[in-house]
Amino acid sequence: MRFIALVVVTGLATSPVLAQDVTDSTPPGRTTVAGVYTAEQAENGAKVYRKNCTACHAPVGYTGLAFRRVWNGRTVFDFYDLVRSTMPNDEPGKLSREEYADIMAYLLKLNGLPSGEKPLPNSDEELKLITISIPPKAPNP
Ligand code: HEC
Repeated sequence: MRFIALVVVTGLATSPVLAQDVTDSTPPGRTTVAGVYTAEQAENGAKVYRKNCTACHAPVGYTGLAFRRVWNGRTVFDFYDLVRSTMPNDEPGKLSREEYADIMAYLLKLNGLPSGEKPLPNSDEELKLITISIPPKAPNP
């Protein structure tokens, strides 16, 4: 008798946890609203961008609604990897991983996302854990 009661209680206690595991679709890791780069990194990114990208792109091309539509919900890695493997157009991959990460930080800043305590990492594995999330009220809509 006692044994049956215990099973019932345990069953009740664990089922909500199970239900949560199944329905919780939030991926592990962080999103860009949590402050995933440092202010210093974005500042350096601005310099790297000016030196290597401005000749062909105005930075404002990577902000606002158009940018949000393409990148919201994807990972920082997706964006990082695209830029690193294709840009600068005339010499893809010529910058260091740090410099590409700094450019990402700069572009996140231009999209109105906050800086934080820790720099944006530059390893693929870590960048895959950060989801781009841009709140609807980003600047330059
Ligand atoms: C020599 C000119 C040139 C330079 C320098 C250059 N780009 Fe580009 N970039 C292009 C062209 C042309 C395209 C569009 C065609 C393509 O996708 O290859 C492009 C496309 C892109 C895209 C693809 C998405 C989109 O909105 O079209 C991104 C992101 C990008 N560039 C970022 C950068 C960054 C960051 C730098 C600096 C590290 C950079 N580019 C330097 C010419 C350049």
